[in-house]
Formats: sequence, structure tokens, C-alpha cells
Amino acid sequence: MEKQLLTLTVNGQPYELYINPKTLLVEVIRDHIGLTGTKRGCSTVSCGSCTVMLNGMAVKSCSILAMQAEGAQVTTIEGLEQTGELAPIQKAFIDHGAFQCGFCTSGMIMTAQALLDENPNPTEWEIREGIEGNICRCTGYNSIVRAIDATAKGNYKEV
Ligand code: FES
Ligand code: FES
Repeated sequence: MEKQLLTLTVNGQPYELYINPKTLLVEVIRDHIGLTGTKRGCSTVSCGSCTVMLNGMAVKSCSILAMQAEGAQVTTIEGLEQTGELAPIQKAFIDHGAFQCGFCTSGMIMTAQALLDENPNPTEWEIREGIEGNICRCTGYNSIVRAIDATAKGNYKEV
């Protein structure tokens, strides 16, 4: 299949890539650009480990073709930290031990950040509802919910 030109911005950096039009966004992020913080757990839009922000909205990057992100602003876990400082949500995940194996963590954090961007003061129920598309097989979710709640309340420790 003839390759097509994709232009998009990832973590503030512009990219021009010639790709097979059937290439998924997760493949462009991991395999073409080399940002492997975004995980690929199921490839069936089930686990959420591939979650990134597309124009500010959390999306499962295995669920869309990269060409659908033409002209878009994509943010991955690598783009959350600013000027060498971890973002508050990242600090809170460390502070609250909100991960064990860590495979779900980058997707979970991107979903959490998008949730907090849209709703800076979520209730516990809104947090649980907001992350329901992200599966964690290790933590039991309570520490993740506490980390998101602490971020909303500005209650995380510097790490
Ligand atoms: S890899 Fe995309 S949802 Fe699991
Ligand atoms: S920390 Fe292992 S899947 Fe979430």
C-alpha cells in the first residue's frame, strides 16, 4: 500500500512521517517516533495502557489510525513533565505507591490528567468512573484513586 505523509505534533515537537495508512497511532508513537512510555497491552481497545492525549482528550492510541491524528497535538507520558520536573500527577503516583508492575501506569496517568484537566475537583466516584477504561491487574485501584484525589487537592509530596 502506498505510503502517505502524516504531519503531527508530539509533546510539542513537529513530525513529518511517511507511513502505511493502516498504521495505528500507537505504532507511530512507539515504533516510528520511539516514545515507548506508551504501552501496548491488548491492541483490542480494552486495557487502556496505550492512552495518550489527542488535542487534550484521552484516547486509546490502539483504537485509531495514525492518519486520523493528521495535524493533531499528541501528548504522551514523556511530555507531561515540564522543565525536568515531574508533573504533580506523576509525583502523586509515586507518593501513593499507585503502581506495582507499572505496565498500566503511563496510560492510567494520561487518563487521570485528562480527567483533572476537564474536572479539577472530581469526587471519588467521578475518579473511579473516569479511569474505568484503564485496567490495572496489580493495585486494586485504591492507591490510584488516592493519587488522583491528592493531585486534585494539591496534596502530594515532592519526590
Ligand atoms: S493496547 Fe490499547 S487499549 Fe490495550
Ligand atoms: S501496576 Fe501492574 S497493571 Fe497496574
